[in-house]
Amino acid sequence: MRPLCTSATASTVLLTAALASAQALTWDQAYERATSDLSLLSQEEKVGIVTGVRWQGGPCVGNTYAPESIPYPSLCLQDGPLSVRFANPVTVFPAGINAGATWDRELIRARGAAMSAQAKGLGVNVQLGPGLGALGKIPSAGRNWEGFSSDPYLAGIATGEAIHGMQGSGVQACAKHFILNEQEHNRETISSIADDRTMHELYLWPFYDAVKANVASVMCSYNKVNGSWACENEEILNGLLKGELGFRGYVVSDWNAQHSTVLSANTGLDMTMPGSDFNTPPGSIYWGDNLASAIASGSVPQARLDNMVTRILASWYLTGQDQDHPPVAFSSWNGGAASVNVTTAAHGDLARTIARDSIVLLKNRNQTLPLGTPASLAVIGSDAIVNPNGANACSDRGCNVGTLAQGWGSGTAEYPYLVAPLSAIQEKLAGTGTNIVTSTTDDAASGAQAAAAAETAIVFITSDSGEGYITVEGHVGDRNDLDPWHNGNALVQAVAQTNTPTIVVIHSVGAVILETILAQPNVVAIVWAGLPGQESGHALTDVLFGDVSPSGKLPYTIGKSEEDYGTAWTTALVDNFAEGLFIDYRHFDHAGIEPRYEFGFGLSYTTFQYTTLATAVNVVAGPTTGDTIVGGPEDLFAIIGTISAYIHNNGSATGAEVAQLYLGYPYSVPSTPPKQLRGFSKINLLPGESSQAIFELRRRDISYWDVVTQKWVVPTGTFQVYVGSSSRDIRLTGSFTV
Ligand SMILES: *[C@@H]1O[C@H](CO)[C@@H](O)[C@H](O)[C@H]1NC(C)=O
Ligand SMILES: *[C@@H]1O[C@H](CO)[C@@H](O)[C@H](O)[C@H]1NC(C)=O
Ligand SMILES: *[C@@H]1O[C@H](CO)[C@@H](O)[C@H](O)[C@H]1NC(C)=O
Ligand SMILES: *[C@@H]1O[C@H](CO)[C@@H](O)[C@H](O)[C@H]1NC(C)=O
Repeated sequence: MRPLCTSATASTVLLTAALASAQALTWDQAYERATSDLSLLSQEEKVGIVTGVRWQGGPCVGNTYAPESIPYPSLCLQDGPLSVRFANPVTVFPAGINAGATWDRELIRARGAAMSAQAKGLGVNVQLGPGLGALGKIPSAGRNWEGFSSDPYLAGIATGEAIHGMQGSGVQACAKHFILNEQEHNRETISSIADDRTMHELYLWPFYDAVKANVASVMCSYNKVNGSWACENEEILNGLLKGELGFRGYVVSDWNAQHSTVLSANTGLDMTMPGSDFNTPPGSIYWGDNLASAIASGSVPQARLDNMVTRILASWYLTGQDQDHPPVAFSSWNGGAASVNVTTAAHGDLARTIARDSIVLLKNRNQTLPLGTPASLAVIGSDAIVNPNGANACSDRGCNVGTLAQGWGSGTAEYPYLVAPLSAIQEKLAGTGTNIVTSTTDDAASGAQAAAAAETAIVFITSDSGEGYITVEGHVGDRNDLDPWHNGNALVQAVAQTNTPTIVVIHSVGAVILETILAQPNVVAIVWAGLPGQESGHALTDVLFGDVSPSGKLPYTIGKSEEDYGTAWTTALVDNFAEGLFIDYRHFDHAGIEPRYEFGFGLSYTTFQYTTLATAVNVVAGPTTGDTIVGGPEDLFAIIGTISAYIHNNGSATGAEVAQLYLGYPYSVPSTPPKQLRGFSKINLLPGESSQAIFELRRRDISYWDVVTQKWVVPTGTFQVYVGSSSRDIRLTGSFTV
């Protein structure tokens, strides 16, 4: 094996992250300024600050009315979680699911910082991300890829880092979608009913992290919760979000998710978007003049409007947007050509680094990878090349033609360029003498023909999904199944049956069932590359040819069948969340189902040894006692202990290991998943090198939600400690007792 070098861009990445952690003001200071502005505003100006100017009424996907009495702009709200939608050029970063697969706090923060530095340069005030709901309880759900993981702990850590990065760059983040918006089918009519404990321990969990990170805004979702629309739901908006979590920013509706004038105002909505409805006749605006009338008639208290405005202005001050925030430099409606070029070479390098470090090596028989310089290499599949009609040929990436590097929908952006796998392989092998044979369609016979002529074959397969307003190849947002698209199984079979050693690369939004592929004895390696963004090909070749070891770990479970997950999208108008706490690996563990590749799994080109587990936890059992501050009870995030282990690189290549901590709760807490992720640490090690992984436990990490007292409670009893390389490759076990 050739020697592996470490990342040249690591220092740039860390520097960006460090620079991005500063925040302009505290909430108290921001509220003080907002309150003094409030007294200067007319009623009409106040209403204008909380009401969108209508769809396509301004350059951004959401815009508000600018008041004249204070120097506050028409606010620009723009998608999305991986870049700036409808603007060109921008850097198209890897999707949230890839950011999650890196398990790398610094990279996730740096990604947020870079994305929002570009958004700020374009004059965006509010970038509509990160995505943390859908959490991903349904493996086929259309928008899981916009978020980080179906585990709330990993999603929560990533959410906090993303928001710190984004807001450190002077852009307001928007945590979305609030809440229980787990599928695309019937998303505008379905009612989600989750029991209180499931709500807290799964779906609300990452929103705590968002609020704790001082997120400026939260987007309420399209669906109903317990029969009431999410954007006019007292229990979730005034109750959970503003009450329990102590959220001080503002709630903005998803586009057209508002259904009432009075009820939405009184239950906690603070801003309506886009200010006119797509689906109803013009003039049916719920706020604007209708809100003013409701206040005049006493149906909505004046104090409520004042509170909406205060929250919105405070968020603007919080992120320093009163200081030299640039004007909007693009229009969403004319192809997005920006009057400034906000992209940088360093941001392109960062996109490549994240994509590279998110790659999960699932199978690698007899060290097939890294590839040396084979005499001949077959590159097979339509996913190896850019869509012949152009990378941006389909609006909002609503087709699966050519290499897949984003899903579809509002959470996408226009590629400035897209490095396809084939061109990166050609670039990498230029001058080596390797004969590259290609078959860049999904035709099985021509794929087999190419493979038969080569020493090794790489087959590219895909599985796509997206937002429900676009249907792609019969998939209405959510996927119809978890199989590869374009007869990917048949393509791999045909190639492998030529007896050529076959490497399968998967570009997908989430889990793909791999049983048919694994049944082929000549499939020697499988690489999951997810949705890598514009630097797709480069990131892949960095790993395939061994410039770096793969270091991504699965942020969800790959099962042996779709049925094994126990959850699927429904066409019913009610989802009772009957699976409760048992989603993804929590379900597989609880039900005793063997996954194909478990949550947290990923191979490296080196190997790691775990030793010396140490546990030091010092906590008194019982409920939180602290006052509610931003992020919940003030003692909820207190560090109550540490668990540590030594990780030793005992192989022959440099590589990074994601050491993972899972806890099993005491028997005194009934019906709890056998293991839950409660810590992780990504450590880069040279061959022979060791380092300590330290997992800091916060009070919340050993608490459960007690539905009777309505508090987070640390139970008495013995916690099982599992430290390992995945959720099922546990290397060290221990326990502590509270
Ligand atoms: C919704 O109803 C369920 C079942 O009655 C209940 O456990 C839960 O707390 C309710 N959720 C909200 C947000 O009111
Ligand atoms: C924008 O700047 C980048 C980085 O300097 C450069 O590579 C790119 O060509 C520029 N794009 C346009 C459209 O000017
Ligand atoms: C792996 O390599 C070993 C040693 O060269 C060989 O004996 C074995 O058959 C190989 N295994 C497979 C599955 O190819
Ligand atoms: C490295 O450690 C692992 C885990 O303890 C072990 O299985 C493997 O044999 C070790 N490898 C070498 C080369 O010592």
